[in-house]
Amino acid sequence: MQDDLERVLFDEPTILRRLDEIAAQISRDYRDRELTVVAVLNGSLVFMADLMRRIPLPLKLDCLSVASYHGKAQTSGEVIFNQVAAPDVKDRHVLLLDDILDSGHTLAAIREKLETAQPRSMRVCVLLQKKKQRARPVDADYVGFEIEDEFVVGYGLDFDERYRNLPCIGVLRKELIK
Ligand code: IMP
Ligand code: MG
Repeated sequence: MQDDLERVLFDEPTILRRLDEIAAQISRDYRDRELTVVAVLNGSLVFMADLMRRIPLPLKLDCLSVASYHGKAQTSGEVIFNQVAAPDVKDRHVLLLDDILDSGHTLAAIREKLETAQPRSMRVCVLLQKKKQRARPVDADYVGFEIEDEFVVGYGLDFDERYRNLPCIGVLRKELIK
């Protein structure tokens, strides 16, 4: 699997050290409020599990799943919710968690859907953020790493549902992206 990478960007110890920092910041920011984490599956699964266990506060967890890529390496712009009902986040302090902020379509659509449920507050946390012009304006409040506009896999991120179990994050070799 690792042979399919052009290069490794972040190995597991580097990722976990950064999660220690983000978790400490989140724990400080939410020390007086009960946090509700809403994780976007499947991409944020590994990130969510490692981040959550570093936050020593009472918190609730909801997951939702969307499809926007349909197995390709480019966004379609169309975000399909795999469940009809949004999590019940009324009056809760929501921290929306996703693997990567790319075009912004996914997080913008999810944020809109959650806002209809009237949370008390909502912030966004992403492991990766691509340096690029976004199609939809989304600002992440907590960002693990900023990366160039390249297609990456591993640590939860997939190409056509593969590579999620790679422990590091790396750039996929171009000839494998079709
Ligand atoms: P956006 O809607 O374009 O911001 O894309 C967000 C979603 O696209 C993420 O949750 C990922 O599932 C997927 N995605 C975007 N860029 C990458 C990438 O470089 N590798 C793997 N998945 C990606
Ligand atoms: Mg994906």
